[in-house]
Amino acid sequence: MFLNGKCALITGGSRGIGRATALKLAANGVKVAVQYYKNDEAAKDTLSQVQQLGADGFIVQADVLEPQDINRMFSQVKDKFGNLDIFVNGARPDVSTFYHSPLKMTLDHWRAAMDSQAQAFLLGTQQAASIMRDGGRIIAITYSPSGRTGSWQPWVAMGTAKAALESLCRYFAVALGSRGITVNGISPGVVFGEPNSLEGGVLRSLPAAAQAATQNWHESGWTPMKRVGTPEDVANAVLLLCMKEASFITGQIIHVDGGASIMDSMCPLEIQQGQD
Ligand SMILES: NC(=O)c1ccc[n+]([C@@H]2O[C@H](COP(=O)([O-])OP(=O)(O)OC[C@H]3O[C@@H](n4cnc5c(N)ncnc54)[C@H](OP(=O)(O)O)[C@@H]3O)[C@@H](O)[C@H]2O)c1
Repeated sequence: MFLNGKCALITGGSRGIGRATALKLAANGVKVAVQYYKNDEAAKDTLSQVQQLGADGFIVQADVLEPQDINRMFSQVKDKFGNLDIFVNGARPDVSTFYHSPLKMTLDHWRAAMDSQAQAFLLGTQQAASIMRDGGRIIAITYSPSGRTGSWQPWVAMGTAKAALESLCRYFAVALGSRGITVNGISPGVVFGEPNSLEGGVLRSLPAAAQAATQNWHESGWTPMKRVGTPEDVANAVLLLCMKEASFITGQIIHVDGGASIMDSMCPLEIQQGQD
């Protein structure tokens, strides 16, 4: 319970990685505001698990594409908690709202990605900073490969948005450094939660064959640790960044991917892994 008495807001806290993060922080004594968009049953379930872990909290509805919703969400956090110690920015709209190839991109799809990541993190961090105690933690959940590569064509809007999100981490890290507030990004690799559970995550919405192919790809060696990630792996990294011992880590993007991000895509794995 080393974070006893701290208060956190987790956007996207109702499901997936956000839910695992809410439970991890609650298990360590943190009061948790669980943000959701449409799925109030999932948010209530997360809150009930938070309470079973002996922590307190509340649920808060917001569409992070809407600036006024972001303001209302932080007002509610201020009213209920008085202040804030941890802000985890994890909400991401459903894939269908932003999934489009570059040459067919519409402004609606573009905005769903950019506004949910870049704009929401810009406004959210400004609001968080205004009620955050010195020494707080701001953590953005990103997906770095999508901002660095260009091969997953319909992910272009989200990839561009995640690149902007990561850039904002660095600028805010400088802006808030003198208050001892750290700002970092966590980049999970492929994350599969339990199928048909609230922690399943976005990739559980892929067709079963695509899920199996993705899992096999990582287990066969693309991820050196030969497994895909779990929501709890990511939640564990959030917890690490919240430790007081992490107080000098800021402006960084931390990969939580079993080593997938250090693989070389230039030649086949069987050559890279061959004997000398
Ligand atoms: N899963 C992965 O493999 C993976 C890998 C790398 C990075 N990430 C990142 O990790 C984060 C969480 O991903 P996930 O797959 O675990 O999430 P998820 O299970 O798909 O859950 C999405 C969350 O975002 C909320 N949400 C959706 N649209 C929203 C909107 N317009 N405004 C506010 N909230 C909204 C949802 O609320 P409702 O429950 O109300 O719908 C839900 O809490 C994302 O930022 C994602 O990019 C995920």
